[in-house]
Amino acid sequence: MARITAGIATSHVPAIGAAIDLGKTEEDYWKPVFAGYEWVKEWVKDNTPDVVILAYNDHASSLMLDIVPTFAIGCAEEFRPADEGWGPRPVPTVIGHPELAAHLAEQLVIDEFDMTILNEMDVDHGLTVPLSLVFGQPEEWPCKVIPLAVNVTQFPTPSGNRCFQLGEAIRDAVKSFPQDLNVQVWGTGGMSHQLQGPRAGLINPEFDNNFLDKLINDPDDLRTITRLEYLRESGSEGIELIMWLLMRGALGYGVEELHRFYHVPASNTAVGHVVYETKEAASARAKAAAKA
Ligand code: DHB
Ligand code: FE
Repeated sequence: MARITAGIATSHVPAIGAAIDLGKTEEDYWKPVFAGYEWVKEWVKDNTPDVVILAYNDHASSLMLDIVPTFAIGCAEEFRPADEGWGPRPVPTVIGHPELAAHLAEQLVIDEFDMTILNEMDVDHGLTVPLSLVFGQPEEWPCKVIPLAVNVTQFPTPSGNRCFQLGEAIRDAVKSFPQDLNVQVWGTGGMSHQLQGPRAGLINPEFDNNFLDKLINDPDDLRTITRLEYLRESGSEGIELIMWLLMRGALGYGVEELHRFYHVPASNTAVGHVVYETKEAASARAKAAAKA
């Protein structure tokens, strides 16, 4: 039986990808950003999943404004890095898991989430930068990835509560997949940032830190944050945080926070990053330790 063992959330700033690709991670500006990811890079060596269900948003790279699915699931065999204007990032092709993706699509539609099915798609920084932050620069990504694209770029975006509910449905759907798979769910984007208009450059550490506190301890409270509140408090792009709620919904209750990081700024963005373990994974680990 497939099981969700952990959740990771991280910002996905494109300049972070460029800093990695251009060998700038040791520069004074970038060093404190990458220091925040040393922990997860070690942890994931012993906790490499078989599959990551990766909630992210496309930034009009593959899903141009002619087609804007609210929720879309990548069912292809593979997904190439998208050309976002400077050529595709020099990172490995992302290998999908079509069987689990098809199962998720079926179960989620049965659960009344009207998913768009994507059988071909390139993936932009929203998906590849988190992979680089967690796995570094391998020849091949060490696990399969199911892209789950959420519309946060074009009004009307889904609510945070709906994303949380989708996460809960993903949890049920993963449990009913017969193959023995270790699955992680990742949420990307955020935290506070605004790239345009008179408030460009907005950062709100108070909002972000409250979000980090509540995400682990009181996620139900975060489910009530409206689109307007995200816009006002976390800037026009801060709404990317609803994908963190999708991750949180997929983990269930009794979750443990293993790691937390917050740093301002990277480019125009407040960088946040958490690693959570599910109750089931923690008790399986305790049992294995007791046996050894
Ligand atoms: C930046 C952040 C983002 O999340 C994004 O999608 C694009 C740019 C930035 O801070 O530059
Ligand atoms: Fe973004």
